[in-house]
Amino acid sequence: MIRFKVKSKKEMGELAATYYVRQLEKKKDSLFAFATGSTPIPLYDELVRLYNEGKVDFSEVRTVNLDEYVGLDVKNENSYRSFMDKNLFDRVNIKKDNTVLPDGMAEDVDKACALYSAKLAELGTRDIQLLGIGNNGHIGFNEPSDGLSARTFAVTLTESTIAANSRFFASQDEVPKKAMTMGMAEIFDAKLILLLVSGKAKHDVLDAAINGPVTTQNPASLLQLHPNVVVIDATENDE
Ligand code: F6R
Repeated sequence: MIRFKVKSKKEMGELAATYYVRQLEKKKDSLFAFATGSTPIPLYDELVRLYNEGKVDFSEVRTVNLDEYVGLDVKNENSYRSFMDKNLFDRVNIKKDNTVLPDGMAEDVDKACALYSAKLAELGTRDIQLLGIGNNGHIGFNEPSDGLSARTFAVTLTESTIAANSRFFASQDEVPKKAMTMGMAEIFDAKLILLLVSGKAKHDVLDAAINGPVTTQNPASLLQLHPNVVVIDATENDE
């Protein structure tokens, strides 16, 4: 595991973007797994900037995403599909058909999870798996618990995650109680895992994940077992 400490979210985004630029120079049709939330926004802004300068081309890029809420229509501004469209896909020359997220509106959620797992297997190993970390150590929506899932599954979100994510909704009641998330084996099926972390509030959970014991009570700690993880750590201050 390599850990870069940076001074600001902007620096975090710029450094993270260099991995994508390098990867796309090697392989135009790279397969990326993206994440949502506040943390990756500086990376997406930087990728858009580089795209506008003609330094990066998404025309053949294929993407999957870590997770999606259950029960939010794709048109809902809080769905992760909307998030990805707004923050990245609509701003670059990616083909929407090449972007895949779990189907949060499926009638049969378990079947939709199995279909998503099958899609991930069909697409193969991700070139870069992007991750953020929850205040409780979750990655994707793999919440701390006695056991973790290997494959995509429907998860009941913890109170702390619902509270943390309520900042995007009109009220806490509107936050979906369930989500679909890639499982741990699927997150691990990546040549490179890029973990972005910003804000002082995440410092301790990140430290425990990197230096503490490997435990399902801090799902990010399992990343110690992956051979190629890069952490870009902007937790030194809030900017
Ligand atoms: C998002 C995701 C989550 C977030 C985490 C941190 O797709 O899978 O694990 O990365 O909740 O969220 P922020 O970045 O909003 O603090």
